[in-house]
Formats: sequence, structure tokens, C-alpha cells
Amino acid sequence: MAELQEVQITEEKPLLPGQTPEAAKTHSVETPYGSVTFTVYGTPKPKRPAIFTYHDVGLNYKSCFQPLFQFGDMQEIIQNFVRVHVDAPGMEEGAPVFPLGYQYPSLDQLADMIPCILQYLNFSTIIGVGVGAGAYILSRYALNHPDTVEGLVLINIDPNAKGWMDWAAHKLTGLTSSVAEMILGHLFSQEELSRNSELIQKYRNIITHAPNLENIELYWNSYNNRRDLNFERGGDITLKCPVMLVVGDQAPHEDAVMADSGGQPQLTQPGKLTEAFKYFLQGMGYMASSCMTRLSRSRTASLTSAASIDGNRSRSRTLSQSSESGTLSSGPPGHTMEVSC
Ligand code: BEZ
Repeated sequence: MAELQEVQITEEKPLLPGQTPEAAKTHSVETPYGSVTFTVYGTPKPKRPAIFTYHDVGLNYKSCFQPLFQFGDMQEIIQNFVRVHVDAPGMEEGAPVFPLGYQYPSLDQLADMIPCILQYLNFSTIIGVGVGAGAYILSRYALNHPDTVEGLVLINIDPNAKGWMDWAAHKLTGLTSSVAEMILGHLFSQEELSRNSELIQKYRNIITHAPNLENIELYWNSYNNRRDLNFERGGDITLKCPVMLVVGDQAPHEDAVMADSGGQPQLTQPGKLTEAFKYFLQGMGYMASSCMTRLSRSRTASLTSAASIDGNRSRSRTLSQSSESGTLSSGPPGHTMEVSC
């Protein structure tokens, strides 16, 4: 009998007819650490935070977030919020290569650029959505400016600095691999990379042929030189807002394979992520279930066993409280929701 092969299916549910992406406007602002570009979709909604995204290394806001934000079911959510998508310096489309010797901002400095963006837009609070390096940057921003962050969605965050073992492994890999391959190894699992699906081919092509690869390498270096976020369970350094922690079960450092997504769940499982995000927002008191017409009706228990859902209590602790390593925690009145997809 022919051997059964596991096939990874990427969820696809494009915009419905009549659903058109909202107009986008791209801006740049000067900050003490150089200029930063960001793109705003939609219009500000009274008494609502902006959804504010920060992408991972090797990507920009579009290659990181377009599949999620243009997912059909996501429209019902995002139409209620203005969205601000940051491109890390030198990652915006058409960015010129930085001159040799340019000092790229550290992740902490990238976080310190965010107040300039919010001031420029006159936005007072955000719900941050970050992946990898972007999740770290938004967490650092939230630690420094807790009153301006209403919630955080952190996808594949590593809050710790590289230890000496990580450095040794990194140096060894660097002897035989290109920067592009190392970044692909950060974004995707070895299994995904060797399976070489269409998605991997697409992202390998984007990164290997990026005209700004030198800039990408600078962001990569800043990521590798990050310091510990130093979260402490019950300690002084905690995120004060509700947090939705997401781990792709094929994320390079995630061993427990529980579901069917990849290292980048926002690319491969936009449906699951949309649904988890909906419950997260409901838990924060946004998106009353009566507003959730199409999404609520199409509820399919599609979240994985690792995701606990209890979205109807307003601003209360709803789900399992911390990550397994115990390094991320939020004290009352925040809540932490963990999703593996
Ligand atoms: C948005 O609607 O927010 C969006 C659209 C395209 C790419 C990324 C985000």
C-alpha cells in the first residue's frame, strides 16, 4: 500500500466579492534613531485603540501581515479599528541600502521610535500585534509605556537574549550558511524548509533576492544582540495588559507538535488566528458577540486543543496565565491567552 504522506494545507479564504481592501496611506517620521515608515489602513474609530503591527526579521509589514489582515473573516474585526503597520527601518518597499558603517538601531531603540509614530498620528492607545523580533519590540514598548498598550498579540516571541550556547550554534551555522538561509531557519522549521512547499519557495525567493538584503542583515544582527526582556512572574517587570501568546507548532524552537500550522501561523493559519484574535478582543470588552455575525455563525471549534477560550469576561484573567517557561506573565488586571497553531 502506498505510504500516506502528511500534506500541509495553507488556509485560504480571500476577501469576498464586494470586500475591497481599505485605502492605505504610507508616512515617514523622523525619530532620534532615524526615520521610520509606516502604513495606515482605515480611519480612526472613536474610543478605540489602533491595531499596531510590527513584523519579524526578513519580512516587511506586507509579507508578514497581508495574508492575515486580508483573510476574509478578519474583515469583520478590522473594520472596527484603524491599523498602523510599521516597517522596520530599511525594510520598506524600495528602501535604499544603508551606507557602509550605518549604525542600525537596537531592538530597544526600535521600540523607542514608536512614540514618535503615535504622536504624529495623535493616537493614544494601541493593541500591538508582533511576530518574532516585532513581538519583542512591542513588548519592550509596552514595558516602557504600559498606559498606552491595551493588549498585545505576541507571535513566536523569544524574550531572552541569546545565551552562549545559542551564540556558538549561531557562529557555527554562519560558517556554512548564508544570511538568507539563517533568517529562513529563524522563520521556519527545518521540516518546513526541507518540504519546500510553495509558501517556503515564495519566502525563500523574497529573502534571497531582496534588494535590501544588507539592511535585513542589520535588523537580524540587532535581533541577535537583543537583551533579556526580564519578565518576572509576579515581579515588578510584567506586561500590564492582556496578552495573547501564539506559538506556531512548527516554529523553529517549538518541539511539541500539537496542530497543523507552521513556523509563521499568521501566514499558514490565518483562520485560526482570526478566531483566537476575535475571542481576545471580546475578552477585552471589544467586539460584543452580537456584532460578530458571520464569524460567530461560522464558529467551527477550529482552535487547537492548546487554546483555551473564555472570551466573555471583560478585562479579567481568562486563560492560562503564563508561557510554559514561565518567563512571560501578566498580573491583574491583564490576562494571558495561549494559542498554539
Ligand atoms: C490591513 O487592512 O490592515 C492590511 C491590508 C494589507 C496588508 C496588511 C494590512
